[in-house]
Amino acid sequence: MSDERATAVPDHPMIRAAIRLGCRAPSVHNTQPWRWVFDGTRLHLFRDHDRQLTAADPHARQAVISCGAALHHVRTAFAAKGWRTDTLRLPDPTRPELLATLEFQPWPDPPMGVFRRADAITRRYTDRLPMAEPIGWGSVRLALDDLVSPHEVTLDVLDEDARERLSVASEQSAALRRYDMDYQGELHWWSGHPSTPEGVPPSALVSASEQARVGVARAFPKPGPSARRGELRDHARLVVLTATEETPPTWLHTGEALSAVLLECTASGMSSCALTHITELTAGRRLLSSLIGHPGIPQVVIRIGTAPDDQQPPPTPRRSLAEILTVQ
Ligand SMILES: Cc1cc2nc3c(=O)[nH]c(=O)nc-3n(C[C@H](O)[C@H](O)[C@H](O)COP(=O)(O)O)c2cc1C
Repeated sequence: MSDERATAVPDHPMIRAAIRLGCRAPSVHNTQPWRWVFDGTRLHLFRDHDRQLTAADPHARQAVISCGAALHHVRTAFAAKGWRTDTLRLPDPTRPELLATLEFQPWPDPPMGVFRRADAITRRYTDRLPMAEPIGWGSVRLALDDLVSPHEVTLDVLDEDARERLSVASEQSAALRRYDMDYQGELHWWSGHPSTPEGVPPSALVSASEQARVGVARAFPKPGPSARRGELRDHARLVVLTATEETPPTWLHTGEALSAVLLECTASGMSSCALTHITELTAGRRLLSSLIGHPGIPQVVIRIGTAPDDQQPPPTPRRSLAEILTVQ
């Protein structure tokens, strides 16, 4: 990248605005395991290893996927403000926690889809309630294929009869971990608490009876009883993102693809929920591999459907900009 191009940079208020918006990205247990450093010219994304889930995510796979989602969100936010970000992934083999370095170029005419997806950032949320079938799925499905392909990730839509098998796998994963003190300690640390700047608050969780109508779900701590969306049983499409290999660059790309899928679905009026409790376990991965029927390593399952109401829960919390951004 030439010096001349590197001198064109967004001003500090724009840097802050794009990072604040982009860090609305989803992350495993809302750990927000990222740090950003702006060195006056380039923007660097680091993984914050203090926020790794050592029991659920011992290799930091999901932490890197989460950072990939934030990377795509931030790049989308900059693009919608007229800045293209040339991105080097894992640029320094001696510093594995440095996940990406971004250089800026003015971009007066980004593709229209960028604005749709940037607008969707504040409307997207993880919907753990049962969903109706996604309306308009056919055309969205085609767009999703185009969005994930630059990231060398495949997107498979499972047949309806996979739902029961994944529900059973969900129950098995919960049973296997019921007495795993490290996993449970972590889960309870990161979820079920109101008024913290991180973690999954009670307002984002579902009751036992609501979860029973979903089936394919991680067993989070349960808030009090409630029966939202009445008798609706889940008819969300079950989508799998599969990477070619198991390395930090492919995890980062998986997170970017995940972000693109979630934002496009939101822009198209759909609800979504990323799930990794099945891919955390070898047996779950094997099951998903057999269901998709092609080589690769399944990383994330996504439920995509239509919410029959527009009762969006309050936005989940995020850490302050001062904690995640350093301007040098
Ligand atoms: C890599 C990754 C894994 C996730 N795994 C799960 C999961 O297994 N179950 C679930 O209900 N949500 C899961 N989520 C969603 C997060 O809990 C959610 O993004 C976070 O709590 C922030 O909430 P929001 O998406 O509503 O902004 C995952 C998200 C990411 C990025």
